Amino acid sequence: MPPGHRHSHGNTEALLTRGRLGCLLLLKLLMLANVSVSCPSKCRCVADVGLVQCGFPALQEILEDIPQWVQNLSLIGGDVNVLRPETFQRNSSQLGNLTTLILINSSIQAIEALAFQELPSLTTLDLSFNRLATIANDAFDRAGQLEVLKLNQAFQAPAVKPLINPQWTKHLGNLHQLELAGNALQSIPSLVFHLENLEKLNIGNNAMKRMDEETILNLSFKKKLGVYLSPNPFACDCRMTKMFLWLRNSSQSLDAQSLKCYAPSSLNGTDVMALKLEDFKCTNEDLETASYVFFGIVLALIGVIFLMVLYLNRKGMKRWLNNIREACRDQMEGYHYRYEQDSDPRRSNASTGI
Ligand SMILES: *[C@@H]1O[C@H](CO)[C@@H](O)[C@H](O)[C@H]1NC(C)=O
Ligand SMILES: *[C@@H]1O[C@H](CO)[C@@H](O)[C@H](O)[C@H]1NC(C)=O
Ligand SMILES: *[C@@H]1O[C@H](CO)[C@@H](O)[C@H](O)[C@H]1NC(C)=O
Ligand SMILES: *[C@@H]1O[C@H](CO)[C@@H](O)[C@H](O)[C@H]1NC(C)=O
Ligand SMILES: *[C@@H]1O[C@H](CO)[C@@H](O)[C@H](O)[C@H]1NC(C)=O
Ligand SMILES: *[C@@H]1O[C@H](CO)[C@@H](O)[C@H](O)[C@H]1NC(C)=O
Ligand SMILES: *[C@@H]1O[C@H](CO)[C@@H](O)[C@H](O)[C@H]1NC(C)=O
Repeated sequence: MPPGHRHSHGNTEALLTRGRLGCLLLLKLLMLANVSVSCPSKCRCVADVGLVQCGFPALQEILEDIPQWVQNLSLIGGDVNVLRPETFQRNSSQLGNLTTLILINSSIQAIEALAFQELPSLTTLDLSFNRLATIANDAFDRAGQLEVLKLNQAFQAPAVKPLINPQWTKHLGNLHQLELAGNALQSIPSLVFHLENLEKLNIGNNAMKRMDEETILNLSFKKKLGVYLSPNPFACDCRMTKMFLWLRNSSQSLDAQSLKCYAPSSLNGTDVMALKLEDFKCTNEDLETASYVFFGIVLALIGVIFLMVLYLNRKGMKRWLNNIREACRDQMEGYHYRYEQDSDPRRSNASTGI
């Protein structure tokens, strides 16, 4: 073979490989372009892991542009207000692969019936940092596959209405995990005990001072359920004895070791589990302050009545005062007279002269 030929052959080979490379590059570029085209402008899309994240979205504007492969969708901020079935309805096909929806800090106040029916694969829903006031009884109808529901700091203070009328939980038979942190709750809401398959409850960062007997009983009936309770402002007095026994005896409290007392002030900051049964005493502190307050009120009332009597009798008082003054004056004059007599120099001389 002449070297020239060989050379030209080498050249064509090089050209061919270069061409193939270019083609690959072009394809990659096209794919990238494809991905970026299908990602809404205010969002970040990571196709490999099925992730789309959007900040301050106007949901209706971006909904059609959300790529269909999305598995995890997070929409943070924005002004969603009400979740209804149309909220997730698209003219292009459903977001059938969406399993995780994070819709936090989006001013959501109400969830209407069937709100999640367009998201048939949803298993994890995070609605934390919203201002929920109403949840329709059938809000989670056709969302029965839900396994994780996060409602941390999600309700409008102070009334946690949806937690008192828990009809909406009837469709959540598959729920494993429920988070209710930061909702100013004073006890575990009873809806928890209607969720058959619940395994994890987070109720930290609320306003629980203790757990009552019925709650403890209800918990002990739900053997599969573990509870995160920290932090809460526990009052480590005699009324917490039952709870302490439960904490010590049961493995249901998943963070017993990090629970701290808040009251009485002598125990503020101590670990609950570091205490002994004898430490849970009821001091008379409450009673004493209450009686002081009562005493103060009674005193104030007496004072007011006294002043009123004075005021109503002001004419009589005046007369009475005048009488007294006159009586005094008479008396004083009497004294004065006697004094003048006593200090009469002649009399005193006479007396000393005796
Ligand atoms: C949804 O997920 C399935 C299974 O992982 C996959 O075959 C399908 O292509 C996905 N759909 C879209 C639109 O990405
Ligand atoms: C998607 O959501 C699931 C469930 O919440 C989570 O375990 C996973 O890490 C998320 N994936 C990405 C890429 O964020
Ligand atoms: C919630 O969003 C508002 C703007 O809509 C922002 O100012 C605020 O810091 C956000 N809060 C949290 C807890 O993310
Ligand atoms: C969906 O289609 C209807 C008409 O079929 C149209 O009026 C509407 O604006 C479309 N919605 C979106 C979000 O594109
Ligand atoms: C205990 O559980 C029952 C349902 O099993 C519920 O009706 C009741 O309100 C619960 N009590 C408390 C204090 O949570
Ligand atoms: C402690 O737990 C055991 C079973 O784990 C139970 O039989 C016992 O009654 C419990 N004791 C108290 C005081 O709750
Ligand atoms: C307990 O201590 C913390 C700081 O350590 C303090 O903020 C809180 O007011 C104390 N609570 C009581 C009831 O004294």
